Amino acid sequence: MAFSAPLEATQTDLFSETSAPIKTEDMLAPESYTGLSGFHKYWGKKPTESLSYLIENLTEEGDIVMDPFLGSGLISREALLRNRRFIGIDINPFSIEHSTFLLNLPSNKEYYKALLEIELRVAKEINETYKTSEDRVASHFLWEENKIASIWIKPETGRNRIEISPTQEDFIQFEKYNGYSPRNFRNLTFFTNSRINVKPTMSVNDIFTGRAMHNIDLIIDAISNYPTHIKRALLLTLTSSSGQMSNMVFAIKNRGGNGKRNGVENKIEVGSWVIGYWLPETHFEINVWNCYKSRANKLLKALPDHDSKCYSVSNDHSKIILDNSDVWLVNSDCRKALRSIPDESVTLVCTDPPHSDRVPYLELSEMWNSILGYNVEFSDEIVVSNAKERLKSKSIYNSEMTEFFLETARVLKKDGFIALYFNARDEESWQYLKCIESTSGTLKFIGCFPMVYSATSVVQDNRKGAMKSDYVIVYRKSNETNGRILPDFLTKIANWSTTFPEKA
Ligand SMILES: C[S@@+](CC[C@H](N)C(=O)[O-])C[C@H]1O[C@@H](n2cnc3c(N)ncnc32)[C@H](O)[C@@H]1O
Repeated sequence: MAFSAPLEATQTDLFSETSAPIKTEDMLAPESYTGLSGFHKYWGKKPTESLSYLIENLTEEGDIVMDPFLGSGLISREALLRNRRFIGIDINPFSIEHSTFLLNLPSNKEYYKALLEIELRVAKEINETYKTSEDRVASHFLWEENKIASIWIKPETGRNRIEISPTQEDFIQFEKYNGYSPRNFRNLTFFTNSRINVKPTMSVNDIFTGRAMHNIDLIIDAISNYPTHIKRALLLTLTSSSGQMSNMVFAIKNRGGNGKRNGVENKIEVGSWVIGYWLPETHFEINVWNCYKSRANKLLKALPDHDSKCYSVSNDHSKIILDNSDVWLVNSDCRKALRSIPDESVTLVCTDPPHSDRVPYLELSEMWNSILGYNVEFSDEIVVSNAKERLKSKSIYNSEMTEFFLETARVLKKDGFIALYFNARDEESWQYLKCIESTSGTLKFIGCFPMVYSATSVVQDNRKGAMKSDYVIVYRKSNETNGRILPDFLTKIANWSTTFPEKA
C-alpha cells in the first residue's frame, strides 16, 4: 500500500474556511465524525453543529468563547472560524497538542512530502524486523497463548492475505527485541483501576512488544526535524495509530455465529483497540509501519489542499486575555488557569466537563502522553476514578466542579451564558448543577435540551451509569429578576425544557 498522493481540491469537511450559519434542524442530523474530526480518537467528542449553533446565537464577533474542559478541541476551530476569540483549557497535554494541530494544519502536500521522506528513511528498516523465515515481510502475527499461531502476508497483487505457519526462526526474530527499552517515550503511570484493566506495575513492555517499541522509536527519530506544524501532525498520526501497534488488538473469531458468514467459512478478523488497556491472550501484533501508513492515508484525505490559516496560539496562562492573541490554549487545571482571567470578560462558556463516574481521561490518555513525552498532573484532574489511591470520589467531584463553576461565574460577563454538556444517571452527580444557582447567587438555570448524535457515529464513550442521551444544560449570569427570560433561539431547539432532565 502506497501513500495516496493528494489530489487537487480534496474535501476539507467542517474545516472548509467558510462556515454556513447553523439551523436548529442541523442539530437533529449531525454529521458523523469523519475527516479531521474523526482522525484521532478522543472520548466524548461532541457534534460540532450544537457547538456552532450556541456560538453563533449566544455571542457576537470579537466576543470571547471559553471551553475549560477542551478535550479534542473541535470547538476551538468552530469559534475562530466565526471570528470569536477563544480560550481553551485542559489538564490533558494531549488535548492541547491536538487542538493546536487543528488550528495549524499542514497542507496535504506538505504532509505527503514528509511522509515520503520518512518512508524512505525508515520503512525498509522497520520491515526488516518483520521478515519471516521465508524472507517475506509480515503484516500481522496472530498470537495465541504466548506463541505465534499464524503469520499474514499481504500479496503483491490482489486483496486476499496469505497465511503461513510460523517456524522457530520467526520466534527468534521476535525475541531479538525482547527487553527493548524505548528511547523516545517515557514509561507509563498507572493506578489500580480494574475498569480500564490497569495496575501500577504495568509498563510499556506489557502494552507493546519490544519490536513495536523499536520501530516506534525509528519513526519518532525520523519525525524530529520537521517544522513544528508538520511534526505535530506526524506525531499525532503516531499516537492515533498506537492502539493498533500495541498488544491490545483483539482477534475476532466467528463473527456472525455458526462459524460461517454468507455461507463462507468464517475467518479471523482484526479488531481494534477499545476503551481501556485490555491485553487479550489471542491478539494481533501488526506491522508498525503499516499501522502508521494506514492512519496517515486517512489524514491525507482530510487535510486541506491549500495552505490554511495558522492561528498564533498563546499558551501562557498568566496572560490569558492580557495579550493580544485570538486564541489561548492552556495545559492546566482549569480552576488554576481561571484565576488569572479578569472578572466579566467571557461571553460564553461552552463546555463538556468530565461526567462524574464515566471516563478517566488522563489514565486513558497515558499511552499517547507517553509517546508524546508529556508528563501529567493526575492529582488536579476532576473525575471520579475507580483507582482508590487517586481519592477521586463523587463528593470530591461535586466540590471541585462547584469550585470551577464559581470561578467561571466570576469571569463571565453579565448576561453571559454557560452551556454545559452533561450526562449521569445517579442523583449525586447532578448535585453541583442543581445547587449552583443558590451557591453562586448570580447564575440562573434557564433550561436544557437533549443531544442528538449522528446515526452512524459510535459515541466514543462509556454508557455505563449514563442516561440514553447527553444534555446541554444552560445557565445565564444575571442579578435581574427577568434573568430567566428565554431567547427564542433556545426555546426553538427540539425538546427544549425548562426543568432538569428526568434520569431515564
Ligand atoms: C468530556 S471531556 C471533553 C471532551 C470534548 N468535549 C471533546 O470534544 O473532545 C472532559 C475533559 O476535561 C478534562 N479535565 C479533567 N479535569 C480537568 C481540570 N481540572 N482542568 C481542566 N480540564 C480537565 C479532561 O482531560 C477531558 O479532556
